[in-house]
Amino acid sequence: MKAKAQTKGLKTMTMEWNGDALILIDQRRLPFEEVYVTCADYRAVALAIKEMVVRGAPAIGAAAAFGYVLGAKEITRKTYNYEQAMMQLKNVKETLARTRPTAVNLFWALDRMERKAVEHGKFEGLVRALEEEALKIAIEDIETNKAIGRHGAQLLEDGFTVLTHCNAGALATVDYGTALGVLRAAKEQGKRIKVYADETRPYLQGARLTAWELMKDGFDVTVISDNMAGWVMKQGKINAVIVGADRIAANGDVANKIGTYMVAVLAKRHGIPFYVAAPTSTIDMSIKSGSEIPIEERSHEEVATCGGKRIVPNNVNIYNPAFDVTDNELVTAIITEKGIIYPPYEENLKKLFEEGK
Ligand code: MRU
Repeated sequence: MKAKAQTKGLKTMTMEWNGDALILIDQRRLPFEEVYVTCADYRAVALAIKEMVVRGAPAIGAAAAFGYVLGAKEITRKTYNYEQAMMQLKNVKETLARTRPTAVNLFWALDRMERKAVEHGKFEGLVRALEEEALKIAIEDIETNKAIGRHGAQLLEDGFTVLTHCNAGALATVDYGTALGVLRAAKEQGKRIKVYADETRPYLQGARLTAWELMKDGFDVTVISDNMAGWVMKQGKINAVIVGADRIAANGDVANKIGTYMVAVLAKRHGIPFYVAAPTSTIDMSIKSGSEIPIEERSHEEVATCGGKRIVPNNVNIYNPAFDVTDNELVTAIITEKGIIYPPYEENLKKLFEEGK
């Protein structure tokens, strides 16, 4: 699981940038098939994000940054004027931004790319500058995850069993993962860590992706269906819960994959610490509380089917929110690349960002 990064390109299990295209492992087909989707223009990247070829907040952000570069390449083949190029880049940004609403990393990465284009200020060398910025975003993501891992590993003792929800692993990032990065770091320190992975209906990121990538890394991983989490906790099998995040509000409310809230309530009931591992790029200080986070609703088909087979009566009503919000009072700590943040979150997240200035 080593990222190869040079000025020319980047190659991880999740994504490869070869200078002309973004190549993504097709996460819709895992764990049974390892096939790749080549995105040679920004529209293809937008479609790959929307259709969840690539998913997970930091991975979406990095993919969008490379999409922006592909947009700039296309534009600069047709125009030689900086102002015109900047106007057209707005459309590229909009197309990429319109794909998924909840994970703030997407908007964070696109804003950063746009800032770079503005800062560069001229037509000559624009694509090159943007390509360097996208590579920087990708490489920083890996370094950030390793730092999250180092901080978070302190919270895990040798012999711990950790429950996780969805996939906040290498596949959800450029590499290494956030929640799963913490598990990887603890394992690298020689701690014996067992993992319970919630299957995470309806899209099954836990059953398909978390189980797949943790098994590849030699973890002892057990898949349970989502409705088993409470019983497993009651039996005393779980020492800690660690999940990722798609957006964290300034007060510490956490939007993450649907079902996370339920796990957090259960953890509280059983006195189990509930940790959220996320880069600071996932913290949206412009949003006061979780009630302001847009929650994506996805196709009814995802709930109506399982493994490609219809499982509900025809014409039944279906509701498919892809994320939920866990109230800050249920979160024991937020593990970031800058350190572990404890309540009161409003105060401590503010401090974290002020220190970073
Ligand atoms: O719909 P997805 O698969 O993109 O949702 C992913 C999650 O909810 C992850 O837990 C989150 O993005 C954190 S990834 C490090």
